[in-house]
Amino acid sequence: MKQQEQWTSKLGFILAAAGSAIGLGAIWKFPYIAGQNGGGAFFLLFILFTLFLGLPLLLAEFSIGRTSQKDAIASYKEIAPRTKWHWVGILGMITSFLLLSFYSVIGGWIVAYLYKVITGQLNDLSSTDYADVFGSTISNPGISLLVQFIFMILTILVVARGVQKGIEQASKIMMPVLFLLFILLVIRAVTLDGAMEGITFLLQPDFSKVTSQTVLEAMGQSFFTLSVGVSVMVTYSSYLPKSESLPRAAFSIGGMNIFIVLLAGLAIFPAVFAFGLEPDAGPVLLFQVLPTIFSQLPFGMVFFGAFLLLFLFAALTSAFSMLEIIVSVLSKGDARKRKKWAWIIGLAIFIVGTPSTLSYGLLADYTLFGRTFFDNMDYAVSNVLFPIGSLLIALFVANKMKKSALYEELSHGSSLKKGLFNMWFILLRYVAPLLIIIVMLDVIGVI
Ligand code: PFF
Repeated sequence: MKQQEQWTSKLGFILAAAGSAIGLGAIWKFPYIAGQNGGGAFFLLFILFTLFLGLPLLLAEFSIGRTSQKDAIASYKEIAPRTKWHWVGILGMITSFLLLSFYSVIGGWIVAYLYKVITGQLNDLSSTDYADVFGSTISNPGISLLVQFIFMILTILVVARGVQKGIEQASKIMMPVLFLLFILLVIRAVTLDGAMEGITFLLQPDFSKVTSQTVLEAMGQSFFTLSVGVSVMVTYSSYLPKSESLPRAAFSIGGMNIFIVLLAGLAIFPAVFAFGLEPDAGPVLLFQVLPTIFSQLPFGMVFFGAFLLLFLFAALTSAFSMLEIIVSVLSKGDARKRKKWAWIIGLAIFIVGTPSTLSYGLLADYTLFGRTFFDNMDYAVSNVLFPIGSLLIALFVANKMKKSALYEELSHGSSLKKGLFNMWFILLRYVAPLLIIIVMLDVIGVI
């Protein structure tokens, strides 16, 4: 196999890895799951899981990738030859595939909204009209499939061009602007009449709302937003030169992620309460609330258009990483094969995603366990596959990699305190596996 291409700069890697992490998870999924789980307590649990499980796991994936400098399957084979551990990589590829199949549905919704804003269809509507317009758009099978297809084509085109040229360049441009627009949005939302109730909802934990299900969802959400458990971060860090500090990268990505989750919460919930909407509206929440907030700003629709463009970009950089992990394994560094596989896998993902898209229209009444196809897919990926992948990665790093070699890998680029390293190791070896198993067993009622 050819040696992996390397990122042309450290910033390129950080931006691409942060681009993978920051996406629909923080901006779309967090508000709706928090809204369904009572707000503050969920937020607190999410932060705790992110700090004590998500971040250590992110660092674990980075260590695997940079130690081996190989893709998501070859990495495990290199470190633990003649074992079955490379199945962790295969599981990650399957998870990524399924994830992108419904992630692209929401990506498509952004494309559809963007089109509506650009063509002026949202000017001068009232807040209930926004919900109606949105509802009728996503329930239309032709439109919703078309926009999902557009989202997938954009993803395929970038991944087909290859890591450095495609992902890195695209990642360098828009993130800071997204942050700025978000801050503007938060300022508008928290100064609305009646905003306080939303702020309290997000920041004041009410533990009476916490069930074992809430705990599982908070854990799944922390893995989801950091992109850990699927070996995507193994793949990305395999392109990183040895001179860079992995802990520093992990902290900056984790920090940005928590910050954007906080911004999303502070933008959405004050507006939800100020406008008398329901926090538990589910996956459509963000799309119903956002235009309402923007309509309260001067030049609101201009800002809304800009926001959607950046939001689309954030979703795409995450989507790139999901497709990239699969394509990098299948193409093994060959540019022609990369192109071919990007198209084949990308289109297959679109096809598998169609029932998820239609869950908001034609298939809305077909449910299993009281959930639509879309909701079941989301649930299985976020709350089953992510935790299992994360569990296996923690076990792999803590048991199959040499502790001294890990310390050395994490000390490149800046010295790492031994105590901090030991704490990380204990978290991976004992705390993460135990906690993940307990939370999962608790939900199925075994304990
Ligand atoms: N972290 C991404 C988000 O929050 O939108 C989702 C994601 C991307 C998860 C890539 C996993 C992954 F491998």
